[in-house]
Amino acid sequence: MGKTSMSVFVTMQRKRWALMILLVLSVSTVGVILVRSSFESCTVGGKISGHQFAEEKFRSIPERPNPLGFMKSKLVLLVSHELSLSGGPLLLMELAFLLRGVGAQVVWITNQKPPEEDEVIYSLEHKMLDRGVQVISAKGQKAIDTALKADLIVLNTAVAGKWLDAVLKEDVRKVLPKILWWIHEMRGHYFKPDLVKHLPFVAGAMIDSHATAEYWKDRTQARLGIKMPKTYVVHLGNSKELMEVAEDGVAKRVLREHVRESLGEQEEFTLHERVYLVCYYFSGVSRGKGQDLFLRAFHESLEIIKEKKLEVPRMLAVVVGSDMSRQTKFETELRNFVQEKKLQSYVHFVNKTLTVAPYIAAIDVLVQNSQARGECFGRITIEAMAFKLPVLGTAAGGTMEIVVNGTTGLLHSAGKEGVIPLAKNIVKLAMQVELRLTMGKNGYERVKEMFLEHHMSHRIASVLKEVLQHAKALR
Ligand SMILES: *[C@@H]1O[C@H](CO)[C@@H](O)[C@H](O)[C@H]1NC(C)=O
Ligand SMILES: *[C@@H]1O[C@H](CO)[C@@H](O)[C@H](O)[C@H]1NC(C)=O
Repeated sequence: MGKTSMSVFVTMQRKRWALMILLVLSVSTVGVILVRSSFESCTVGGKISGHQFAEEKFRSIPERPNPLGFMKSKLVLLVSHELSLSGGPLLLMELAFLLRGVGAQVVWITNQKPPEEDEVIYSLEHKMLDRGVQVISAKGQKAIDTALKADLIVLNTAVAGKWLDAVLKEDVRKVLPKILWWIHEMRGHYFKPDLVKHLPFVAGAMIDSHATAEYWKDRTQARLGIKMPKTYVVHLGNSKELMEVAEDGVAKRVLREHVRESLGEQEEFTLHERVYLVCYYFSGVSRGKGQDLFLRAFHESLEIIKEKKLEVPRMLAVVVGSDMSRQTKFETELRNFVQEKKLQSYVHFVNKTLTVAPYIAAIDVLVQNSQARGECFGRITIEAMAFKLPVLGTAAGGTMEIVVNGTTGLLHSAGKEGVIPLAKNIVKLAMQVELRLTMGKNGYERVKEMFLEHHMSHRIASVLKEVLQHAKALR
C-alpha cells in the first residue's frame, strides 16, 4: 500500500473505531445502564440530567475484600423520590448495585411515578431487575411489610421524605431508627416540614460534601428549629467504567479526535493547535450554573490576549447541555451574547447529552462555574480530573473540597467579581501547557487517592455499619 492509501486506510479505520466507540456509548446509554450520576447539580427534582454510559457487567471479584461485605444477606429498602436520569436516582442505583455485588437483598421503591408509560423508567427498572434488585410499588402492604422487615432503609433526597407518612402512616416511628437519609440538595425550598420533619429522628444523614452538610445544619435549625441527626459526609467516587475509559489512551484519543472533528469541521486550524475549554452541564443550561458568566469571562480572556498581543493557541469554548426546548429565555440570552460579541466561531453549543466521556476526552480544561452556594459535590469535577484535566472552578460548595487551588486547578469567586479572575486563569492555562499538564496530572493523582468507587464504598460501608448498630440497639 502506498503512503496515501495507507493513511486513508488508517483514517478510515480510525473513523470506524470512533463510530464504534460512540455507538457503544450510545447503546449503553439508551439501554440506560448508567451506573453513574453527575452531581453537577444539587437539584434533582424532575430534571433530566445527563449521564454517562457505563457497562453491563458488574465485576464482583474485587482485588481486596469488599468493604461492604458485611451487608451480605441483609435486607435493604431503597426509596427514591423518582426514577429518572438525574443525579439522585442514578446514585442510588449505584448503591443498589454495590449492595447486590456483595449479596445483599435489595428492594427498590420509586415514590413518584408519572401515570403514563415512561421509557426511561422502564429501562432503568429493567436494568435493576437484571441485577437482581426487586422493584416494588411505593404503596400498599408489601411496601409496609418490607419497610418493617428491612435491616436498613435508605431514603434518597429530601423529597423522598413524603413517602414516610403517606405510606407507612402509624408505622413511621417504628422504622425511623433504621433510616439512613441520603441528601444531595442545597436549595432553600427543601426546608419544609412535610418533607423533613422526621429528619431529626432517623439513624443518620449522609451528605455529599461538608459544604452541603453545614448548609443543612444551619438551615434546618434556622428555618424549622429542628436538629440534624448524626451526619456523615460521604464524597462520591468515579465508577470503574469511567476510570477505564480515562486510563485507556487509545479510547481517549479516538474520542478526542472524533469530538474535535465534529466541532470543528469548517475550521482551517489543525485539531491540535486549539485549546478547548468546556463549561459542561448535563442538566441543561441554567443561570445557577453560570454559563453566562463563563461566556463573559471567555470573552474577557480573548480581549486580554488581543490587548497584550499574547501568543496563545486558538481557544474554543464548548458549552454542553444546550436545550432550546426548555431553558429558552436564558439560552437565547447566551446566544445573543455570543452574536453581539462576534464569538460565533469561538463558542460551540452542544445539546444536552447522556455521554460525558467523549467531551471530557476532547477538552483541555474544565470550567466548573456554578454560582451562589456552588455545587453540592460536582461529580463532573472528579470525572474531568480522572481524564487529567485541570479545573477552573468557583470557590464555593463541593468544588472547594475537590479542587486544590494552585495544584489541581485554579479557583475564582462566584458572582460577577469572579469574571476577571476566571478570564485571567483561562489565559494562564491557555499559555502554559506545562502548568495545564501538571495540574491535570495532580488532579488525576488526587482522584486515585480519594475519589474512586472503592473509596466511596469504604466511606459508605462505615456509615452503614453504624446505622445497622443504631437500628439494632433500638430494636
Ligand atoms: C439540538 O437540539 C435542537 C432542539 O432543541 C435541535 O433542533 C437540533 O437539531 C439539535 N442538534 C443536534 C446536533 O442534535
Ligand atoms: C487561588 O490561588 C491563587 C494563587 O495561586 C490566589 O491568587 C487566589 O486568590 C486563590 N483563590 C482562592 C479562591 O482561594
